[in-house]
Amino acid sequence: MTERANPDELTLAQVMLPEDANPRGNVHGGTLMKLADTAGGVCATRHTRRRVVTVVMDSMTFEQPVYVGDLVIVHAQVTWTGRTSIETEVRIEVEHVLSGEMRHISTAYFVYVATDEHGRPTPVHPFEAITPEQRQRWQAAEERRAARMRQRLVGASA
Ligand SMILES: CC(C)(COP(=O)(O)OP(=O)(O)OC[C@H]1O[C@@H](n2cnc3c(N)ncnc32)[C@H](O)[C@@H]1OP(=O)(O)O)[C@@H](O)C(=O)NCCC(=O)NCCS
Repeated sequence: MTERANPDELTLAQVMLPEDANPRGNVHGGTLMKLADTAGGVCATRHTRRRVVTVVMDSMTFEQPVYVGDLVIVHAQVTWTGRTSIETEVRIEVEHVLSGEMRHISTAYFVYVATDEHGRPTPVHPFEAITPEQRQRWQAAEERRAARMRQRLVGASA
């Protein structure tokens, strides 16, 4: 029998083609953001087995350029769950296929909300942070969550 993959983690890989880039061969930030949102969204969907929508994407910094021909590897993992929301950490790396050299491009956090058949937020089952690394990531996610809630309040009163 085929073993089930861990539903709380996902890795996507895609070779960058000319349509992903500008005329000089630099891959668009938007291409990477879409891949990151896809990986995070599928990861959140697999955790909840519900349709999810993206509610927040934290700022994303591209530390190095990505070029046509590079293999982009996007690793997403669930870090935290609330009542109806799920945070995923998405790490983007690039492999130069001929040399095997790996480069870190970006790490960002995406929050999704699980929805019911009417598109309304619906409860999710809690993510269990078991390993020390998972507990550390959960703690950091709690801090980001508090910052987002403060920001939401500011936005609501503006
Ligand atoms: C996501 C959406 C359903 C939330 O609706 P809402 O009326 O704000 O619902 P709630 O206030 O009950 O919030 C639902 C969850 O989202 C979280 N949330 C809402 N706004 C948030 C924000 N700015 N930052 C972090 N979390 C947020 C809430 O904390 C809550 O999580 P919890 O249940 O784990 O505590 C609604 O905003 C929406 O449909 N947005 C559009 C999503 C979309 O289409 N995305 C695609 C790209 S545009």
